[in-house]
Amino acid sequence: MAITEKPSTPPEIGGIGHSVRRHEDDRFVAGQGNFLDDHVLPGMLHMAILRSPVPHGTINAIDTSAATALDGVVAVVTGELLAQYNLAWMPTMSGDTQAVLATDKVRFQGQEVAAVVATDPYIAQDALELIDVDYGVLPAVTSPQQSLESGTVLIRDDKEGQTSNLVYEWESGDVAATDAAFARADRVVSIETHYPRSHPAPLETCGCIADVNATTGQATIYMTSQAPHAIRTVFAMVAGLPEQNIRIISPDLGGGFGNKVPVYPGYVVATAASLVIGKPVKWIETRTENLISTGFARDYYMKGELALTNEGKILALRVQMLSDQGAFYSDAQPTKFRAGLFHVVTGSYDYPAAHVACRGAYTNKAPGGVAYRCSFRITEASYLIERLVQTAAYELGIDPAEMRLKNFIQPEQFPYTSPTGFVYDSGDYPTALRKAMDAVGYEALRVEQQQARAQGRLVGIGIAHFTEAVGAGPSKTYDILGLKMIDSAELRIHPTGKAILKLGVKTQGQGHETTFAQIVADELGIPVTDIKVVEGDTDNTPYGLGTYASRSTPIAGAATAMVSRKLGDKAKQIAAHLLEAAGADIELENGAFSVRGTPSRSVTIQDVALAAYTNLPEGMEYGLEGVHYYDPPNLTYPYGSYIVVVDVDAETGVWKVRRMVALDDCGVRINPMIVEGQIHGGLTEGFAKSSMQWITFDEDGNCIGSNFMDYLIPTAWETPRFELLETCVPSPHHPIGAKGVGESATVGSPAAYVNAVIDAIAHLGVRNIDMPLLPDRVWSAMQAAPVQQRAGG
Ligand code: CDP
Repeated sequence: MAITEKPSTPPEIGGIGHSVRRHEDDRFVAGQGNFLDDHVLPGMLHMAILRSPVPHGTINAIDTSAATALDGVVAVVTGELLAQYNLAWMPTMSGDTQAVLATDKVRFQGQEVAAVVATDPYIAQDALELIDVDYGVLPAVTSPQQSLESGTVLIRDDKEGQTSNLVYEWESGDVAATDAAFARADRVVSIETHYPRSHPAPLETCGCIADVNATTGQATIYMTSQAPHAIRTVFAMVAGLPEQNIRIISPDLGGGFGNKVPVYPGYVVATAASLVIGKPVKWIETRTENLISTGFARDYYMKGELALTNEGKILALRVQMLSDQGAFYSDAQPTKFRAGLFHVVTGSYDYPAAHVACRGAYTNKAPGGVAYRCSFRITEASYLIERLVQTAAYELGIDPAEMRLKNFIQPEQFPYTSPTGFVYDSGDYPTALRKAMDAVGYEALRVEQQQARAQGRLVGIGIAHFTEAVGAGPSKTYDILGLKMIDSAELRIHPTGKAILKLGVKTQGQGHETTFAQIVADELGIPVTDIKVVEGDTDNTPYGLGTYASRSTPIAGAATAMVSRKLGDKAKQIAAHLLEAAGADIELENGAFSVRGTPSRSVTIQDVALAAYTNLPEGMEYGLEGVHYYDPPNLTYPYGSYIVVVDVDAETGVWKVRRMVALDDCGVRINPMIVEGQIHGGLTEGFAKSSMQWITFDEDGNCIGSNFMDYLIPTAWETPRFELLETCVPSPHHPIGAKGVGESATVGSPAAYVNAVIDAIAHLGVRNIDMPLLPDRVWSAMQAAPVQQRAGG
């Protein structure tokens, strides 16, 4: 298809650009979803996990006798038992080790200590209370700063050669060029901020049913996994099982947001238990287990400095970042990048030099570091640069919008190589920001802001312009544990012209069953309702690294277009045979193959499909099916301009969003309705993060935020109304010009909300408040601020 913003197929075909209603919703709204906990296997047992109440301590003894004696308990599993099978420890996605069940020590509150397998889930839960563990309590390390102080207790004393709590040190950019730019700068502006720990909190928690047949060696594992193929390979490596005998089935998922990428100890214990007991074993996390022990995100402490001219031109960026990794380094991220893609922190701006220095530290908290609604740590990066540019605007007395327009990468500079080595593929940032400014009425709002201040009212206007880097990734650079981050699509067209598309990625609610069918419909003219999309069963789909970090459209979407084109080429040869014409003369449009120049001579894709099994040219192989593995030449770079207007109550610090205008550019939109849904979700999450959502720990390492009374999820009541806008600069290297969008709004919006609140009180001298902006924090910042007259705005 030609790259265009408008649909080129009629609605009855429903190709790219149509807001086709989601096929999958038919079963979801009818209560016919097929989630993990819906599965009941014959003879199935239930597993519950005992977790440590102690954030840091030795395990002196575990007495399981009372639990074992309880009626209905089939087995009690401890780390000691697993150690006999060499399964007490497992590798993490970032090449560290993680305890499956603790043997020597516990290192965070909520760590897995033992598991009970019983005939019923309630018996399993009751039996946990009968296990007696003698802990020797050790001091807990609750911040990365404390962790790296000399004399702090060594958390990972299990690791040979580990002498401190430092996990990694990693840098990107050119330190000498950056130092030189800072030396010649007129001004240096800096900000220190913390992007707090957060949790993906999908509606459905994690879980699995392991069904291992010791006689046949077949292991079928139903699992809430965003990356079933990669998990199968990791399982084969960890458990030593032959990979052809492992089948991971990831059924309907009730959200994932990165939480369902890692291998969790519960999966390994359930599989080992099923193997030993010879029956299927089901494990489903409780909400509290999910919040305190699986896959957190963020927790980056960041210091950013900009070198500037007096006129506001950025010369260089310097960043120091310290991350709180928890007790095990289990970030799900590409091998080469120790801090994910955080070094995209240079943002949407053009300057020659940057240096980013990152360190990670072990603490007595749950491990995680998942790509929660962002491409590997880009949310943190985007937040820092957008807060920093805003601060620089205040310090220099330049309007924050003008500051951005002055420093943007210009449309003619693409492809643009950033100072930390990313090659941005395309964009038109000035048009995007100006369009958002026009929609919100920016100039008039600035006038209103001045008048409001004179009346003692506080109005704030916050801007964030983000650039994401999604679609990891090109095999030359991107792998996870050595597995290249390619993805695949297999397309089979049946004799009646109906098709089945099988993918290596796995939807968690994003609407893949609809959008990927739309790509095939667009390429071949098969109506979208005639195409079934299958994902999530490793025995029946081609290999892929899975869905996270908005990689499905950039990679699996491209694979889908490419395999459709492969089949289209064969279909043209068959059509030529049916039309008695030369293959080179055949054109395909909206499912009709015709001879160039004589459109009246045509056959349909359905005619061709039948001929593929009944009437072929001499020597051609029967069938109409194929597979394509796509290795992207580059990442794609969606972007957006967000503007938030807030009213802040000067007496209480309570802030309310008056307007939220969000312009997104994700290239060609396959399904505009689904794209808007994705953006709504991300904007809501950005609002949650900036206003209420917070996982904290007390000084003893106890996790506060273990339930939805403490960890707040915004409802429709609190969530502001969103006004969506778009531009479309297609990705030049993607076969259909699409970029990912899944998490863009989460990446872009937190800074817009925070910038708006700070903007309302910046004239008092307030430059930063860490998220979430609770009213008392805003109020305290106002009281503490040195009153200044802010220029510009
Ligand atoms: O990897 P993930 O599916 O989470 O993210 P994505 O590839 O950005 O896609 C999220 C949803 O939006 C999918 O259903 C996509 O097909 C759809 N989408 C779209 O319709 N057009 C785009 N340009 C990007 C995504």
